[in-house]
Amino acid sequence: MDGSLANFGYWLQNRPFALAIAGSDWVYPFVQATHFTGLSVWVGTNIAVDLSLLGAGKKSTPPLQLSDALFIWNWIGFAIAVTGGFLLFSVSAATYLTNIAFLTKLGILVPLGLVLHIVIQRKAPEWEKSQETSSMAKLAGFTELLLWLSVITAAVLIPYVG
Ligand code: HEM
Repeated sequence: MDGSLANFGYWLQNRPFALAIAGSDWVYPFVQATHFTGLSVWVGTNIAVDLSLLGAGKKSTPPLQLSDALFIWNWIGFAIAVTGGFLLFSVSAATYLTNIAFLTKLGILVPLGLVLHIVIQRKAPEWEKSQETSSMAKLAGFTELLLWLSVITAAVLIPYVG
């Protein structure tokens, strides 16, 4: 690992808040539960809109309407997931920074998923108006679905890879 990245990892995991999380029997599981709650809301609301783009669900609630209705919960979920994720990361930052599954999750899959998610939220009104772009909407929804499933797969693999 690059020296400055390793130094950052050791610096972060020795901050008082990181040491307090690591040193307590109940704070770490609480932070874990926070991360899981946030990511459940984030991924759950994303999947609902992606499936709607693919044509699943009630036809009376088109993807744009669903995306607008879930918008606030969607980003609240993301904020909670990122806060919990950062706190989990801070406990063993130097180790996570050498973990290929963590680096793939955070360095590639989460940024890709996030960019596509923002594109979908911005393009949804256009797609709603034009029937021609519906194949584009389906492709975007399907790709986003795959990306968040890949994020979860990479996250689950973190403890099993070096
Ligand atoms: C927003 C999208 C995210 C999703 C869908 C996600 C998903 C997950 C899942 C499913 C796990 C559980 C792995 C397991 O215990 O089997 C996990 C753990 C974890 N996540 Fe996230 N995560 C997200 C964002 C983040 C962010 C932004 C960070 C860091 C800044 C992060 C850091 C971590 C860490 C450190 C763990 C614990 C890994 C371990 O040691 O087992 N996550 N994440």
